[in-house]
Amino acid sequence: MPLTIDITRPHIGRIYDYVLGGTQNYESDRRAADAMVALMPSYPRWARVNRSFLDHVGKRWAKEGVTRMLDLGSGLPTQGHFNEHLPDAKILFTDFDPLTVAQAQQLLAYSPEMAYANIDLKEPDALIAQAAAYFGAERPIAVGAIGVVYFLDDAELQRLMQGLHAFSSPGTKLALSFHYMPPGCDTAAIDRVIAEGQKRAQINFYLRTPERMSELIRPWRLTEHRPIQDWLGQETPVAAPPVAGVEDPLQQLTLVGAFAEH
Ligand SMILES: C[S@@+](CC[C@H](N)C(=O)[O-])C[C@H]1O[C@@H](n2cnc3c(N)ncnc32)[C@H](O)[C@@H]1O
Repeated sequence: MPLTIDITRPHIGRIYDYVLGGTQNYESDRRAADAMVALMPSYPRWARVNRSFLDHVGKRWAKEGVTRMLDLGSGLPTQGHFNEHLPDAKILFTDFDPLTVAQAQQLLAYSPEMAYANIDLKEPDALIAQAAAYFGAERPIAVGAIGVVYFLDDAELQRLMQGLHAFSSPGTKLALSFHYMPPGCDTAAIDRVIAEGQKRAQINFYLRTPERMSELIRPWRLTEHRPIQDWLGQETPVAAPPVAGVEDPLQQLTLVGAFAEH
């Protein structure tokens, strides 16, 4: 089926590309991104912190000898993505943005062991069917879910995680990232900004504590979780300078990098 690309509506994959400094975006994405940054100047930094955690996971899994992986909500496979860290691995990338998928398929054209599928994570059966077709009986398959689970509501996330768990073999590794409000935050101000962001960019965004996340991803076992800056140390991207006249309560959020096991 040909991919349909609607460039008149902003899309999170291309907004993300724009704030990371990429060129795979359109006027509608740049307008939505600028509106988001005006509302929450910390947004580009969150994107860089997320991508740096992905980079960290890629390096760790390369050391651990991962040879197969399924990546969820991949965005474009550039700038320190899993294909760069695991060049000899068999990888299935996924995203629901047709433009990202089409562009990524071109980028991976010379990597015969890697493929990119157009999948909405809200439809885990389709994801599992594609993964089963791609990997056959080969296991284990490490699962990356960096910078994406916060777009799913609780029921969607549980369905996805249960489906993936049933598909995976014992010992499988899962890496994910998510935001939460540490104690003492101005929760009303944060909720207000998130609601406004949802209205402007048509993106749902869910915050979860590590305890809540641990429940939602069951039967996966959350084995390690830390604020991403604790994983990265001095390599953490620096905070953007404050913007005069703009309050950014989202700066109070913590972005967590976590690992789980089957
Ligand atoms: C914030 S980017 C993260 C990209 C990459 N994983 C990283 O950490 O740098 C989120 C990506 O998830 C994709 N995405 C969001 N919701 C999705 C869904 N329901 N199904 C599949 N992909 C989704 C977006 O299109 C976007 O490319």
